[in-house]
Amino acid sequence: MVVHLNNAGAGIMPEPVRQAMVTYLDAESEFGSYEIEARSGDHLDGTLYQAVAELLNAPVDDVAVFDSATRGWLNVVTAMEFRPGDRVWVTPYEYAGNLILLSRLREKWGFSIEVVPVGEDGELDQEWMAASIDDDVALVALSHVPSGCGIVNPVAAIGEILKNHRCFYIVDGCQAVGQIPIDIGAMHCDLYTGAGRKFLRGPRGSGFSYTSPRLRDSLYTPFLDLHVAHINDGRYNVEVRTASARQWEMSERSNAISMGLEAAVRYHRQHSHLAYDHHAATQLRGHLSDSDRFELIDPGMEKSNIVTIRHRHCSADAAVSRLREQGFNAWVMHGRDTPIYMNDHGVDEAIRVSPHYYNTATDIKSFFDALVAL
Ligand SMILES: Cc1ncc(COP(=O)(O)O)c(C=O)c1O
Repeated sequence: MVVHLNNAGAGIMPEPVRQAMVTYLDAESEFGSYEIEARSGDHLDGTLYQAVAELLNAPVDDVAVFDSATRGWLNVVTAMEFRPGDRVWVTPYEYAGNLILLSRLREKWGFSIEVVPVGEDGELDQEWMAASIDDDVALVALSHVPSGCGIVNPVAAIGEILKNHRCFYIVDGCQAVGQIPIDIGAMHCDLYTGAGRKFLRGPRGSGFSYTSPRLRDSLYTPFLDLHVAHINDGRYNVEVRTASARQWEMSERSNAISMGLEAAVRYHRQHSHLAYDHHAATQLRGHLSDSDRFELIDPGMEKSNIVTIRHRHCSADAAVSRLREQGFNAWVMHGRDTPIYMNDHGVDEAIRVSPHYYNTATDIKSFFDALVAL
């Protein structure tokens, strides 16, 4: 068995998740895919959405399911409209994929992108935000937990600052869901996106979002797929059958993955008291801080299960492949994936170690010993 310390890449699926998918695939082979789908509506159009809504503490009509977190983010952001003089705030912790879309939309709409300043400790400057927010700020994008380092950003406190202003507040929760309790009600955000495969331990190819009714009402979505719209006069009269967040989904989807995602959310809810306890990462940070061989890329006051390390004598590439040979899964963190923060701090690559609640103290100690021995 490997010691899996790459949950920020993808967590190990627990047996009930694997089983839910295998059982569904077997039924598709035996009875036919459309036929078994017709019998599984209670799950695929019902309990799946209830489970995700409960996970996020959000109303079920505000939840949609996708094949990735990015899909949930880009559907909404691409449909936004901006006006001359608009400003968009991002933070140094923004994910590269989100920045790519915002940069290209900036070419189209001409808005400016401003980076929220951070203090010496890496915390976002909330005083600056409170003093600088005005009606020209159209959009504020925040990563709850970034891809490249372990800071947990204060999503709810920032939501309090922004809540009575014009801007839409969109939060990328891809690395947060499954390791941090999510309470949409307390965040005052308009979009929250998550992935199934990471700390939630669901299948690859799954993601989901929350969108606020305020955001949905403001967007014009040209295409609506056949699960939410139909042509009712034989020509051009499109009847939209729902105002729910599912308007951004495609009708065609992998039902086996949807079954796996539901099973993962249910499994997580039974184990959330363990999943929200970061004992393994705390232990690892303790070992690392006692040694002068390592530099931690670890901004912020509140930290998650993502521990980013530079080994003073070994490149991240070499370290990760040699650790893998010894049965330890870590990952190379490329600075370009969290470009603003990493570029500002001269970090091209580092070793990203992301344990979860199933890692034991022995796993962490033996991993640390292997790291020291590199
Ligand atoms: C912070 C963050 N946001 C978004 C994504 C993209 O998620 P997905 O690959 O599910 O689209 C990632 C992927 O690692 C991520 O770390």
